[in-house]
Amino acid sequence: MKAAVFVGVNEPVSIEDVTPLDPGPNDVVVRLGASGVCHSDLSFVDGTLGFPPPVILGHEGAGTVEAVGSAVSRVKVGDRVIASFVTTCGECWFCQHEQPFVCSNLIAGQMAPHGARPNGDAVTAVGGLGTMAEFMTVNESVLVPVQTDLPMEQLALIGCGVTTGVGAALVTADVQAGSTVAVVGCGGVGLSVIQGARIAGAERIIAVDPNPLKREAAAARGATDSVDPTGVDPIEAVRELTGGRGADYAFEVVGRPETVAQTVELTRPNGTAVVIGAMSPTEFISIHGLGFIYGAKHIVASFSGSAIPSRDFPRYVKLAEEGKLDLAGMISRRYSLDQVNEALDATAKGEVLRAMINF
Ligand code: APR
Ligand code: ZN
Ligand code: ZN
Repeated sequence: MKAAVFVGVNEPVSIEDVTPLDPGPNDVVVRLGASGVCHSDLSFVDGTLGFPPPVILGHEGAGTVEAVGSAVSRVKVGDRVIASFVTTCGECWFCQHEQPFVCSNLIAGQMAPHGARPNGDAVTAVGGLGTMAEFMTVNESVLVPVQTDLPMEQLALIGCGVTTGVGAALVTADVQAGSTVAVVGCGGVGLSVIQGARIAGAERIIAVDPNPLKREAAAARGATDSVDPTGVDPIEAVRELTGGRGADYAFEVVGRPETVAQTVELTRPNGTAVVIGAMSPTEFISIHGLGFIYGAKHIVASFSGSAIPSRDFPRYVKLAEEGKLDLAGMISRRYSLDQVNEALDATAKGEVLRAMINF
């Protein structure tokens, strides 16, 4: 199968013929319909996440079931499925206690081999999926069948960006109606936080992003105010907009220690700061100790929107079908698999809300 393979830090992604592993009894072969380009894919290629190559890129995808192993029961050939990049074992304490997003075997799942390069080297796959390939062979547990006519590219978004953002607002933070929300970083994930906050009935949504394209997109999705952090202190700006208090809920969706510290600062006393952005494994977050204690702040991390995919993916599909969640408008440009380097480049340069690879 043709696949986009990360072969070395800052080297062009290689489009090559990968030989997939033979499917086991619990495996499913999915023909990809679409794969989004998420910032985390970029973080593989630029070395931020420190993951060793070679890796098939892509962890935000949807497709059609092509073949199933003998023991598969959740899906059948022809089903439309959305894949979850949170590899879960189903057996550890966390999986047994409805917290699959912190499965003890997550890392093992992410590091599992997925096939061989033309030179014979074993290749892994981002999120244990590798959606930037014609096919993916995955355990049935990561697939959620959905009955909907929404286009594949919209379903793909639910695999990561939309669930990560909407879920952070609706599930992790459980934003309450009438509240004030600040979102630091308004890319694909941040815009999804904004949509989640709007769906929850937030009264004010403050979008913080240096890129005017992103601030405009935020306004179109429900942000009521915006802050350009270039030359302006976003902490002061958000306090000014909130009667000096700060936001009831603030979300960090950039992935840098400085913006995490800012997000905590611009959260009001006894409010909730939610960290979504993925940092490099060598980075630490530093916050003002006494301000944190006297401010009685809640700081929480949100990974994959605290999703239980079988519960949440169909819910997000329904919200989209009802016109409450805009998926179509999140896709700025479409590419073929051969154009993956252009798609990554456009994402790195901030030219797109989401770049989509369609098969
Ligand atoms: N303050 C506010 N926003 C910033 C700043 C800053 N100092 N620096 C950059 N940004 C904005 C960018 O302009 C961009 O709009 O952050 C946004 C990041 O968006 P994308 O590159 O589209 O990334 P996205 O896919 O949304 O992911 C964001 O969430 O899931 C994680 O790994 C993912 O860490 C990444 C983060
Ligand atoms: Zn992602
Ligand atoms: Zn588990």
